[in-house]
Amino acid sequence: FRVKQVKMAASGDDRVEYFRYKGISLPRYLVSEDMDAIRDFAIRDDDVFIITYPKSGTAWLQRIVSLLRFGGDVSKTDQKEQDELVPYFEQKCEESVPFRELPEAPSPRLIKSHLHMFLAPLQLKQGKGKVIYVARNPKDLAVSYYHFHFLCTTIKTPTSWEQFLQEFVSGEVCTGPWHNHVLGWWEQKDNPNVLFLKYEDLQKNTRKQVEKVAEFLQWPVTPEVIDKVVEQSTFQNMATNPNTNKVSGKEAKAGIFDSSKGTFFRKGVVGDWKSHFSDEQSQWFDNFYQEKLGPTGLHFDFE
Ligand code: A3P
Repeated sequence: FRVKQVKMAASGDDRVEYFRYKGISLPRYLVSEDMDAIRDFAIRDDDVFIITYPKSGTAWLQRIVSLLRFGGDVSKTDQKEQDELVPYFEQKCEESVPFRELPEAPSPRLIKSHLHMFLAPLQLKQGKGKVIYVARNPKDLAVSYYHFHFLCTTIKTPTSWEQFLQEFVSGEVCTGPWHNHVLGWWEQKDNPNVLFLKYEDLQKNTRKQVEKVAEFLQWPVTPEVIDKVVEQSTFQNMATNPNTNKVSGKEAKAGIFDSSKGTFFRKGVVGDWKSHFSDEQSQWFDNFYQEKLGPTGLHFDFE
């Protein structure tokens, strides 16, 4: 199934090599190429998948769901690094690929993934297990992703913001076209096993979104538990907690992050796009996504 191999010379790092699968570029060093095994993965009824395009608030949801799972008790969630508690399904990291190890894991399995809907396990799409999808407005997401490309050693370092933006819009970046990803999962939003959330709503009223998640998962919670979840999942608390801040976690240890080039917990706000987009870029970008998203009813807040 290898349509094209692209060796990205920009970073000078041998690990920056993408493979293409059905039009999507994925980093060979980071993501398993075994798409057949991913598609056929056996889902359990109580599986919880957190699925996103990168930089949409994945880590935030990993934290919220783990805290809900343990009734807001940080002495339980923080026994392990967040990425061990909620492993990245298709990621290759130091010989481990979670989707190969998960069949042995106890229930309920909490799982993170960046898979497009059409690449996800078939049984998930047939209604087994649960999916929490998080989407973020594409302008803030593009800015966040741009900075992430400096931090992450397994994806191509951009030569400029302009060049990155062009590649983002044309879907040439790692994970492929953002609009295909978000619209693929948006189509599934009315399925009872899918909850579609937005990063901007989490910012506006975290508590309300946490309650929505708890209700969707049908995990009994008290208002006190919700208080704890909200408190422990703030940007500030996650950025300073060694189990969630990714400074010394397994990805950092495996050399996937180079913390001299940036930080995972960068700004965590809505509207940072204004510090990067020129008026011309903003107009062009809006026109492009208006055409893609307009007819679908999917809207985002940009302020
Ligand atoms: P910025 O780069 O804009 O700061 P992901 O986890 O999908 O990779 O997304 C990372 C983005 O979510 C980063 O955005 C990060 O700062 C932001 N983020 C992570 N946890 C957050 C939180 N608790 N509150 C607000 N933003 C958060």
